[in-house]
Amino acid sequence: VPPDIEQMLEAHELLRKFYHHLLVNTKDGQHALEYLLGRGFTMESIEKFQIGYSLNSWDFVLNFLTKRKFPLPVIEKAGLIIKREKDGKYFDRFRDRIMFPIFDRGGQTIAFSGRSLGADEPKYLNSPETAIFNKSKILYNFHLARPQMKKLQQATLFEGFADVIAADRASVENGVATMGTSLTEDHVSVLKRNVQSITICYDSDHAGIEAAWRAGNMLSDAEMHVRIALMPDGMDPDDYIGQFGKEKFRKEVIDASVTLMTFKLQYYKRGKRLHDEGDRLRYIEEVLAEISKLDNAVERDHYLRHLANEFTLSLEALKEQLKQISFAEK
Ligand code: GTP
Ligand code: MN
Ligand code: MN
Ligand code: MN
Ligand code: MN
Repeated sequence: VPPDIEQMLEAHELLRKFYHHLLVNTKDGQHALEYLLGRGFTMESIEKFQIGYSLNSWDFVLNFLTKRKFPLPVIEKAGLIIKREKDGKYFDRFRDRIMFPIFDRGGQTIAFSGRSLGADEPKYLNSPETAIFNKSKILYNFHLARPQMKKLQQATLFEGFADVIAADRASVENGVATMGTSLTEDHVSVLKRNVQSITICYDSDHAGIEAAWRAGNMLSDAEMHVRIALMPDGMDPDDYIGQFGKEKFRKEVIDASVTLMTFKLQYYKRGKRLHDEGDRLRYIEEVLAEISKLDNAVERDHYLRHLANEFTLSLEALKEQLKQISFAEK
């Protein structure tokens, strides 16, 4: 390991511990702790996820690390301080934020994400890409979730840190999240190497549903079993658990998840009046186009029958139509 990398990791390790100490044991961190507890985070989660607090200071990290003989360029390359263009002065990247440490698969701290306590923008501030942190490869909580993922051959994919942590409280311990970016092919390979099945439990708002659609297709193209877990309009898993509790989350969200195809069928129904002939025909076309993309003949047959039953159509006509679509696509 090159000396710079060694020092970057060590700086993260030291800061993770100190941020956590500030949150849990100090008066300076008290408002942050109250904020978290007010949102339903428990002390147990705060310990497990090593959540911390960064002081409202421009130079706390700067002094803390330089006093411990870390060279300025290393601290900067680690993304912990920022150099100001106009006068070359350094200042702390994270100030007055709830700190979520990001661990690699071995459990080493390699980055942070800091959440503002109020309405400060951005809501979440991440470490930049560094020699030790590659956002497009890292899944939040992978190192803790992995044993459970392996055991169940199943992972649950969330949008946010708060969702992973709330789900963990609800005994859904195989949860991971991307770092505020959409799912990448690298993420897909990591998941594929570890599990067969994925439950996508993104926010049930417009952005989350679009993202679930996209992630669902990627995972399904990688030949993984995909289910989609949905909540009432606009809610995310953390909101849901806060409002309805852990048990209801497990039963009515996770266990009630649907296949990717069923999710798509529901999606195409949105905003359509199916008793209207035009809307109904459009719906049938959209669904047939989806069915034509299925590789599995048994699955194709299953959904065709479903469609035939739903609208009392003849299976033969649907099959004929499907052939034409498949033909047009080739
Ligand atoms: P809470 O408000 O704390 O419950 O966050 P959330 O997870 O519900 O946030 P949201 O659904 O808006 O976003 C999902 C995830 O996207 C977050 O957990 C972050 O990882 C990321 N994200 C959200 N806002 C920002 C932002 O302003 N900047 C960056 N870089 N990432 C963000
Ligand atoms: Mn502790
Ligand atoms: Mn969201
Ligand atoms: Mn959310
Ligand atoms: Mn949320």
